[in-house]
Amino acid sequence: MWDSLLIGARLATMKSGGVPYGAIEDAALGIDDGRIVFCGAADDLPGAPQDLARKVHDTEGRWITPGLVDCHTHLVYGGDRAAEFEMRLEGATYAELLKAGGGILSTVRDTRAADLDLLVARALPRVDALRAEGVTTIEVKSGYGLDIESECIMLRAARRLGEQRPVTIATTFLGAHALPPEFDGRADAYIDLVCDQSMPAVVAEGLADAVDAFCENIAFDLDQTDRVFRRAAELGLPVKLHAEQLSDMGGAALAARHGALSCDHLEFLSDEGAAAMATSGSVAVMLPGAFYFLRDTNVPPIDLMRRAGVPMAVSTDCNPGSSPATSLLLMMNMAATLFRMTPEEALAGTTREAARALGMADRRGTLEVGKAADLAIWDIERPAELSYRIGFNPLHGAIRAGEVVAGSMAR
Ligand code: NIG
Ligand code: FE
Repeated sequence: MWDSLLIGARLATMKSGGVPYGAIEDAALGIDDGRIVFCGAADDLPGAPQDLARKVHDTEGRWITPGLVDCHTHLVYGGDRAAEFEMRLEGATYAELLKAGGGILSTVRDTRAADLDLLVARALPRVDALRAEGVTTIEVKSGYGLDIESECIMLRAARRLGEQRPVTIATTFLGAHALPPEFDGRADAYIDLVCDQSMPAVVAEGLADAVDAFCENIAFDLDQTDRVFRRAAELGLPVKLHAEQLSDMGGAALAARHGALSCDHLEFLSDEGAAAMATSGSVAVMLPGAFYFLRDTNVPPIDLMRRAGVPMAVSTDCNPGSSPATSLLLMMNMAATLFRMTPEEALAGTTREAARALGMADRRGTLEVGKAADLAIWDIERPAELSYRIGFNPLHGAIRAGEVVAGSMAR
C-alpha cells in the first residue's frame, strides 16, 4: 500500500519534449515514503484506488504542478532599504548608492549588527510568503556578512529556516558580493580572504551547497571571479554567477567555462555568452523583479537564449535592494509581460529549470516517478493562469516530501 493517492487530477508534469506542460488529463499521482511512485493516466493505475493507498484524495479536476522552486534569493538579511528606495525615486542610481557606501553595504551593516535569531525571525515571514504560493524549495545566499563569521551566521540562519519550516533550503556562499569597507581599495586582498579563509570555513561547517559571485564593474572583475571559482572547484562546490546585470563583463562565458550551474540576471548577455552557456548547459536565471524595481530598460535577450538552447529559470531574487519580492507567481507574470517568456516557459522556469539551476534536476522540478513528492495543487482551469493573474494566489494545497504543508488543504 502507498501512503497516498491523488485522483481526479490534471497534471502539468513539466517533462520536456512532449505535449505542452507535459500535461496529462484524467490523471492520478501516487506517493509513498515522500516520493512519487505513480504519475500518469488514471486508467493505467494497477488497481482500484482504495486498494492502492491508505489515503485517497479526490482533487476534483484541479491542476497539479511540481512544487515551485525559487532558485535565487538573498532573503536572509538585516534591516531594509526603503529609505534608499525613496532616494532612487528622487534620482539616485543603484550604482551611485553603493559607491557612496550605501546599497549592499548598508545591508551589510544591518546584517552584521543582527544575531542569528534575529536574522531567522526576519526571514521567516519571507519564507512563509513564498510557501503560501506553493514554493517547496528555496535557495538562499550569503553575501551581506562579508567577514568570515558573519557569512557563517547568515548561512546558519538559512539552514535553520529549513529546520523551522517544511521547505527544502539550498544554500549558496556569496562572499564575493561586494567589497566590505575594511578592504576599501584592496579588492584582491578581500578575494584572498574569501578564497583562503571564508570559503574553507563555510565548507568545513557544511554550510554551502554552491558558490556565487557578483561580477560587475561595481563589484568584482573577471580575474577575481575566476579565482573564486577555482577555489570552489578545489573545495568541491558547484558555481553560479551574478553576470551581465548592469554591463557586459564577459562573466557568463567565464562561468560557463567553469561549468556553472547558472548565470543570473543577464540583461547585457552577449552572443558569445549565450553560446558558451548553451555549451556548458548553464541555466539562465531570469530575475524580472530586479529588472522592474531598478527600472532597467535592457531586456535579457530571451530570443537569443531560446535559439541557442539555453534553459531559462525564473526567480524572485528576493533581497532588500534590487528586488524586495516574495511572490514567485508575480515574477512569472513579469517574466511573461516584461520579458515575453511564454507562460509555459515561466512555469518551467520555476520548476524544472529552477531545479536544474540548483543541481537538483534528478530529484525535483518535474512530476516523475522516483522524484520527491513536492507538489502544488491549484484552483485553475489552465496552467497559463499561473502567469496570467497579478497578485492573486490560486493555491489549493502544497505537498512537500509527501506531507501537506500549505494552502486550504493544510487547514
Ligand atoms: O541580485 N546584483 C547583486 N546582488 C543582488 C542585489 C543585492 C542588493 O542590492 O542588496 C541582486 O540584484
Ligand atoms: Fe541576486
